[in-house]
Amino acid sequence: MLNVHSLPRHIAIIMDGNGRWAKRRGLPRIEGHRKGADAVREVVRASRELGVRALTLYAFSAQNWDRPMEEVRALMELLRDYVVEERTEIMDNEIRLVTIGDRSRLPEFVRQPLEVLIADSAENEKMTLCLALSYGGRESIVAAARRLAEAVVAGDLHPSDIDVGNFAQELSTKVLPELDLVIRTSGEQRISNFLLWEAAYAEFYFTDTLWPDFSRASLYQAIETFQGRERRFGLTSEQVRIRR
Ligand code: IPE
Ligand code: IPE
Ligand code: MG
Repeated sequence: MLNVHSLPRHIAIIMDGNGRWAKRRGLPRIEGHRKGADAVREVVRASRELGVRALTLYAFSAQNWDRPMEEVRALMELLRDYVVEERTEIMDNEIRLVTIGDRSRLPEFVRQPLEVLIADSAENEKMTLCLALSYGGRESIVAAARRLAEAVVAGDLHPSDIDVGNFAQELSTKVLPELDLVIRTSGEQRISNFLLWEAAYAEFYFTDTLWPDFSRASLYQAIETFQGRERRFGLTSEQVRIRR
């Protein structure tokens, strides 16, 4: 049974397998993405109801721009539909919407409604929903390093003062709680340039379920597995038990 008193504070999901879901049914890939958007709705609602503080969804990677043009276009249209259609749900449930990734690469028809909803939901406090859009973990770390280098050049920072703490403050994920659980669907066991820095001590949960089939029950299962793990953060098991 899932324990609501020791939930992961921040869950991130690599929502993979839409294409294979469609292919198995003889449908075009986009139908898999469409069904995947329904799974997003279910998982956001379930997370909010459970009391998860933050949920990050890998919706589009920096590398996904290289997919066929029609697929990229269809994904962007689904993203816009999601933002427009979920507005009421997000506001009514006091969810704060944020993004990580290079928003400037998104087409205007997505960026405009997205930015309005980000601004309008900024004061909401029940849960943070973070969409990773045009996101790459390496790109994000490089951007942080660049900002620190600029601060050094400007004379505001000494190189020897750079540490894990202030580096993390340059990452767009600084507004999110510590990442506790990373879920990847579809059987692949890789990180695909997702939260490279943030996942340092996250627990990983891999499932063969394809993203469009991922449900509230699948999320509960992932959280339950997470709760059965011992997180040691480099310490010994004995030390961890004393501290608890
Ligand atoms: C995940 O499903 C969605 C995105 C990457 C946008 P895929 O489209 O990668 O599905 P598969 O991996 O081809 O099955
Ligand atoms: C990762 O899935 C990106 C998203 C889920 C948005 P991919 O399907 O792009 O990853 P690879 O290509 O299998 O590593
Ligand atoms: Mg994939």
